Amino acid sequence: RPLIVVGISGSLRSLSANSRILASVEGMLPAGAAFRTYEGVASLPAFNPDLDPDDAEPPEAVAEWRQTLRSADAVVICTPEYARGVPGSLKNALDWVVSSGEFMAMPTAVISVSPHPEGGATALGSLVQTLKMMSATIPDNAILAVPFASRKLGADGSVTDAGTLTSLRGLAGALLQAVT
Ligand code: FNR
Repeated sequence: RPLIVVGISGSLRSLSANSRILASVEGMLPAGAAFRTYEGVASLPAFNPDLDPDDAEPPEAVAEWRQTLRSADAVVICTPEYARGVPGSLKNALDWVVSSGEFMAMPTAVISVSPHPEGGATALGSLVQTLKMMSATIPDNAILAVPFASRKLGADGSVTDAGTLTSLRGLAGALLQAVT
């Protein structure tokens, strides 16, 4: 079967710079790889262990989220920083898969995109800590902060900045190398 890479945006905004940069990664994958964007972040209930008992099925949206991850060979997360943290909706999605373990040994690339000069590095560092706690495999070259977001995208939302394109290609390559 083809390699399946699941993309997750931490921004729910329709014109999100993060979602656009995430989409650009699709074109950097080898022919035959399938890129699927997980669109269910906003449909997940607020994490509550009481909704996830050992002896019963979790809510439907949670089951779908876990199944999406189980079908993936690799994951790319691209997120904004909100108030120096990971957006609550993305953290909520991650909290649903701490106990169920879908990120264990999952090759995962992480990107933060921000108009600020730091590029969302604080949220990015926090996201890396969360994923490492869940035993995800995050290659060193698959962690990227993209600052000054508005200068990196063209009017049609495509990535126009050469340095960013080079970094994204490096990230995609490092991620695929981690898929065994
Ligand atoms: C922000 N933004 C922001 N940026 C940053 O670098 N550090 C931060 O702590 C914050 N905090 C923050 C809070 C809230 C409530 C908003 C709405 C925004 C700016 C943020 O990076 C910017 O809006 C990005 O463009 C959001 O990404 P998308 O939606 O374009 O992908």
